[in-house]
Amino acid sequence: MAIIDNGNNNSVHFKFHEYKETRANITINGDNNKIDCLGQLYGNGKLNITITASGCSIILESGIIINRGLNIYIAPSGGGTPSKDCNVTIAKDVFFNGVSTLTLSESNNRIDIGEGCLLAGGITFSTSDSHPIYDLDSNLRVNPSASIFIDANVWIGSNVHFLKKAYIPSGSVVAAHSIVTRKFDTPNIAVAGNPAKVVKHNIRWQKKV
Ligand SMILES: CC(C)(COP(=O)(O)OP(=O)(O)OC[C@H]1O[C@@H](n2cnc3c(N)ncnc32)[C@H](O)[C@@H]1OP(=O)(O)O)[C@@H](O)C(=O)NCCC(=O)NCCS
Repeated sequence: MAIIDNGNNNSVHFKFHEYKETRANITINGDNNKIDCLGQLYGNGKLNITITASGCSIILESGIIINRGLNIYIAPSGGGTPSKDCNVTIAKDVFFNGVSTLTLSESNNRIDIGEGCLLAGGITFSTSDSHPIYDLDSNLRVNPSASIFIDANVWIGSNVHFLKKAYIPSGSVVAAHSIVTRKFDTPNIAVAGNPAKVVKHNIRWQKKV
């Protein structure tokens, strides 16, 4: 595991089920960041974490499977100012089947992925548009960054993009190639399309036990 720490008071703690040197690449440029793995990581995929920020935390709970790859970037985009105080939590038993990429390029945002979620491949999460847009008259920003929340037991199809404000309630399905731009409130729905809309209510995707 390659860890490059160019800052002060950063803590990195990991457990892999099967340790391999190439399994993780972690680069930190900043201070007071915490990366904590509360259980063992499973699967053969690679974990890449880049933090160019301060006061951030990434918490990976137990039973997470990374089959191909998980990329987490907490870093300003382009010539932006350094990010700070961002948080990522990935809850118990989340299964990353393909490659997923989480990007937090502005301050004070978080991405939470709930327990038991199943993610296909080519999925991106971006809490910021990376470039501000301003109202011509007021000069106020019209596209502020915002956190992303995926509740427990959500199945996310391939190549889904979650933009700022995305919020998926528990037990739901996100159809392949959807672009999620807003909050959905009712649990156990299927959302699909660009922008994603509800296409089914009152469903479940896990077998009843
Ligand atoms: C979400 C999904 C499970 C829904 O399947 P389903 O229950 O059979 O639903 P249907 O095919 O009846 O679709 C319901 C409606 O949503 C629409 N829809 C389904 N998937 C869509 C998609 N990806 N994008 C846009 N619209 C979609 C359908 O056109 C249909 O619209 P209509 O009612 O106007 O005709 C399926 O479409 C899907 O995206 N599966 C993900 C597959 C995947 O990525 N697997 C990766 C391995 S983990």
